[in-house]
Amino acid sequence: MEDRWKSDICDFDEVPEGGARGFSVTGEDGTALRLIVVRMPGGVRVYENRCPHRGTPLDWAPDRFLDDTGEFLVCSTHAALFRIEDGECVSGPCPGEFLKARTARLCDGRLFLMGAAKDSPPSED
Ligand code: FES
Repeated sequence: MEDRWKSDICDFDEVPEGGARGFSVTGEDGTALRLIVVRMPGGVRVYENRCPHRGTPLDWAPDRFLDDTGEFLVCSTHAALFRIEDGECVSGPCPGEFLKARTARLCDGRLFLMGAAKDSPPSED
């Protein structure tokens, strides 16, 4: 049994393939933590729902995270676009900055937030 901090996010099936949803969990420090869960073909990405530009949540309405193409996460405040794969801002007021990626693990059909925040972007090591 793994002895590592984790927090239950959701049932994996609550996030449609090719879609994104927002969830609130209890973070490591006991406070509420807002997350974005994105399902792509063959994988899932979890980011903190906090724009690196001004720190606001990305969604303007519940679960509205993707742009019209479905290829980018979009911030509703100033329209920054973030790559789904790594959370990098590719358009808007904060180019080159990243959404904070979080480590998640699937266990028995449920998605769990694991441990502390990992550095973004993923290392090349
Ligand atoms: S707060 Fe997100 S783009 Fe400005």
